[in-house]
Amino acid sequence: RPPNLYSFRDVDRDLAPNLRRYVLDQQNEAFKRHDVFRVAISGGSLPKTLAKALLAPPNGSDEDKVDFSKWEIFYADERCVPLDHEDSNHRLVQEEWLNKIPKDMVQPKVYTISEANLDDAQETADEYEQKLVAVFAARDSVKLPLFDLILLGCGPDGHTCSLFPDHPLLREQDAWILSISDSPKPPAKRITLSLPVVVAAAKVGFVATGGGKKDVLKKIFETEEGSKLPCVLVNEGAGEKVSWFCDQAATEGVSFP
Ligand code: 6PG
Repeated sequence: RPPNLYSFRDVDRDLAPNLRRYVLDQQNEAFKRHDVFRVAISGGSLPKTLAKALLAPPNGSDEDKVDFSKWEIFYADERCVPLDHEDSNHRLVQEEWLNKIPKDMVQPKVYTISEANLDDAQETADEYEQKLVAVFAARDSVKLPLFDLILLGCGPDGHTCSLFPDHPLLREQDAWILSISDSPKPPAKRITLSLPVVVAAAKVGFVATGGGKKDVLKKIFETEEGSKLPCVLVNEGAGEKVSWFCDQAATEGVSFP
C-alpha cells in the first residue's frame, strides 16, 4: 500500500496542528506498547515545525497530552562537529525546539553523538550505534532497532537523513548507523541511520514545506526519474507506514498517485 499524503493550506494553522495529532497518536501507541516513546529526528526546517506543533497549548483531552518525560530522542542524521557547533543538528534542535520546552516540565532524554572522535566519522558512527544497541537490543534482541517514529525532511535532491541519491551507502544492509565522509551537502563528515533502520520503524513522517520542494516532490511522486531517490526508497520500503506532511506551496501542480 502507498504512503499517506497530506497537503495543508498553511503550516502554522493547518499543518502544525495535524502534525501534532499524528505525533501524539504515535506517542500514545508507543506508551501502550512499552511506556516509552522512541523517536528519531532530522535537522533542516523540521525542528522549527516540530516546535510549532508540540509546544502549542494542549486542548485538555487525554490524547492531546505531550509527555516528554517518556520521550527518547535520537538523531536520524548528525554532522561530525562539536555539539555546540553551528552545523550541529543537535544544536539546531535545541535552539529551535528543546530549549523552548517549559522548564517545569520533565525534559526528554536526548541521545547525542560522542564528541570524542569527531575526525573519524566511522568511529563516531560506531559509538552512536553502540548507544542504540544499549537501548534497543536489550529489549527487542533485534536485528534492527525499532523506532516508534522517525521524522524526516526531504532535500531538494531527494536525499533524506544523510542518505544521498546514488550513494553506495544506500546498499548497506546490516549496519544501523553509517558514516559518510563525502556528503555532497556540507559538512562532508556525517553519520546517518541506514535505509533498513528507517524502513523498519513503526511509522515514518516526512515534513516538506515551501515552494522549494515542488520540483523534488514531482520527481518523487510523478516520474520514473525519481524512482531511485532515497525518499522514494523509503516510500517503497515502508509503504503505508509513511506519511507526508506537505503544504500547498510544496505540492502546487504535483499530481499524487
Ligand atoms: C541535514 C538535514 C537534512 C534535511 C533536509 C531537508 O542534516 O542535512 O537533516 O537531511 O532534513 O535537507 O531540509 P529542509 O527541511 O530544511 O528542506
